[in-house]
Amino acid sequence: MDPTEFHSFLASRRSVREYEAGGITEEEKDYLLSAAKTAPSAGNLEAWDVVIVTDDGQLEELTDASGGQHQIFDSGCAFVVCANYVRSMSRYGDRGILYALQDATIAATYMMLAAHAIRLHTCWVGQFDDEAVKEILDLPTHMRPAVILTVGVGMPPHASPERMDAEEHAHYDIW
Ligand SMILES: Cc1cc2nc3c(=O)[nH]c(=O)nc-3n(C[C@H](O)[C@H](O)[C@H](O)COP(=O)(O)O)c2cc1C
Repeated sequence: MDPTEFHSFLASRRSVREYEAGGITEEEKDYLLSAAKTAPSAGNLEAWDVVIVTDDGQLEELTDASGGQHQIFDSGCAFVVCANYVRSMSRYGDRGILYALQDATIAATYMMLAAHAIRLHTCWVGQFDDEAVKEILDLPTHMRPAVILTVGVGMPPHASPERMDAEEHAHYDIW
């Protein structure tokens, strides 16, 4: 892939909140998982896990736990990517909390981009009640849900959101 192609690939992804019914195939789920496996992680500990939810009842509960964000139910498939604190803290102590969250969000990012590569649509949902999600999925106490990534076939919005100029983010050598 040349650099321009890579940039167009990134720029053409949109958060999608309107979905068609139907869900995704097992092969598509596996493709996302195999992409996430290539992500870097602190100490190569891969301190993340994912619960792939397709059950209508659970999707409805996750929708409620995120303040009614209907894209979770409508997509038919949610990848709930979690930080595994024990896996990271067993080596890194308190720093492992940060590393596990970073590992989980990088893995989720790889899944999001892998979905885009196979023309599926996603929405990264970060606003949810942690405790409610833990209860719905029966997560052990050392797991923190970091991202609910909806995955499906949907209708991307026509308009692209405004972005800050790259220069507004960048500082050179010192703030
Ligand atoms: C950390 C984080 C949390 C987000 N939480 C939500 C959310 O709870 N609900 C939602 O609809 N979109 C959420 N988004 C998606 C953003 O709204 C979206 O990425 C942003 O508006 C830019 O649009 P784009 O993804 O189409 O480029 C979140 C994105 C990130 C990275």
